[in-house]
Formats: sequence, structure tokens, C-alpha cells
Amino acid sequence: MISLHVNIDHVATLRQARGTPYPDPVWAASICELAGAQGITVHLREDRRHIQDRDVELLRQTVRGVLNLEMAATSAMVERALAIRPDVVTLVPERREERTTEGGLDCTGSHRGQVAAAVQALGQVGIAVSLFIAPEASQVRAALQLGVPRIELHTGHYCDATLDARRPDGRSKERADAELEHLAAAAEEAVSHGLHVAAGHGLDYNNVRPVAAIPGIEELNIGHALIARAVLVGLDRATRDMLDILQSVS
Ligand code: PXP
Repeated sequence: MISLHVNIDHVATLRQARGTPYPDPVWAASICELAGAQGITVHLREDRRHIQDRDVELLRQTVRGVLNLEMAATSAMVERALAIRPDVVTLVPERREERTTEGGLDCTGSHRGQVAAAVQALGQVGIAVSLFIAPEASQVRAALQLGVPRIELHTGHYCDATLDARRPDGRSKERADAELEHLAAAAEEAVSHGLHVAAGHGLDYNNVRPVAAIPGIEELNIGHALIARAVLVGLDRATRDMLDILQSVS
């Protein structure tokens, strides 16, 4: 079955909104794991708007499955990751003014040198490095050239299209299908070169099935939709509901 890694950033967002010590993302991670999630994902942003250093340090001690740290490819963040030693580091683009990670990492352009330095420093100590990239052949090729063992495909455009497709004119169904094809093609290309392929961003209980069914995608990182559901039904149930869907696909 495809693995579910729960992104718990939004638990920390709720905490930071009031500066309270609760809800604790470390507790949340345990509930997700007890419900069956295979991994926990957190984004330690440079502005520390949700997840804090303390959270990642404690998660390193408590997470039993895979701890995936998303971060920018800066030397300061690499230093933090080297101290924390997560199982996986996913390098993501980061802009202060964005609400959430907006695009994939551009591994072909001017950032390439910075990404290469981070990949080398993290890989050297045995951290599995992943690159969060758009589902485009050029990005998959660039990731291969950088020598990473993993990639995460950005599902944002597909998810946006599925939201539009539910609106009355329904015109975006074709766009969603086209985006799915991009994801499938990128996954196929990556897997043919031996890369471990994850996917995520914007996935929810309605749009996740076709992505989970793409051959070669082994892991999904899901945050906002799952935590939003947890507010209403509880985190254990929200995690199990998603696992049930994933199980029904594979
Ligand atoms: N994968 C990556 C690389 C991300 O940056 C995010 C958002 O932090 C996610 C997955 C999860 O996205 P969402 O919260 O929309 O499920």
C-alpha cells in the first residue's frame, strides 16, 4: 500500500495563532502514527511561522516511522538538519510572503548550485534527500543529475483543477486529467531511473484517489485537508479515513 505521511504543520499554526503551548504537534504526530500513518512531515520555515525548532527536536526523539523535514536549501537550514538528523529532508522553495509552498523547486535554474550544495552536505551524513518538484521531465532530469534518491511531485495544479472541476461549468475536468497525466509521466520517468517517488500538496479526501493509483508513487504527504477534517472528527479518525481510501486504491 502507498504510505501516508501526515504533515502536521497546521497543528502548529493553531498553536502559534495564540502563542499557547497547545495544541502540541508532537502529540499530534503520535496520534497519527498510532492510527497507522507511516510517516510525519513538518516544514521548518525560515520565519518559524508554525513549526518551531523545539518541535522538530522532540519529533526526532518520538516519531517511530519516517520523519520528513521540509526546508529551504539554505546553509542555515542545512546546519539545523545536520543537527536534528531527520530520516528524510525534502528541499522546497520558500518565499516569505507566500501562504503555503507555491511552486516546485527549480532544479534547472540559478538555484541549482545552492540545491547541489545542500544535497551533498545532507547526503554525506546519510540523510535521504528529496526534491519537491513540478511534474515536468526537465525537473526530473535535473533531480537525477543532482544525484538525489527521491523526489516529491507537486500535486498543486492537479488539486486546483479538481476544485475548479467541482464548480458548475465543470470545464476544468480536462485540466485535472491533463495534470494527472503529467504526474503519471513524471512518476514513470523517475521510477525508471530508480528514484523513490512521493507526491503531495493540496490533496484531500475527494481528489486523492487518482493520485494514489498512479503506478510508482509510493508515498503521499497530506496536511491541510487531514488536519481540517480532524478539527471536526478527531485526528485519529481523520488519519484512518485517509488510510482507508489509500487502502481501497491499492
Ligand atoms: N508536500 C510539500 C513539499 C509541502 O510543502 C506541503 C505543504 O507544506 C505538503 C506536501 C502538504 O500540502 P497540504 O497541506 O496542502 O496537504
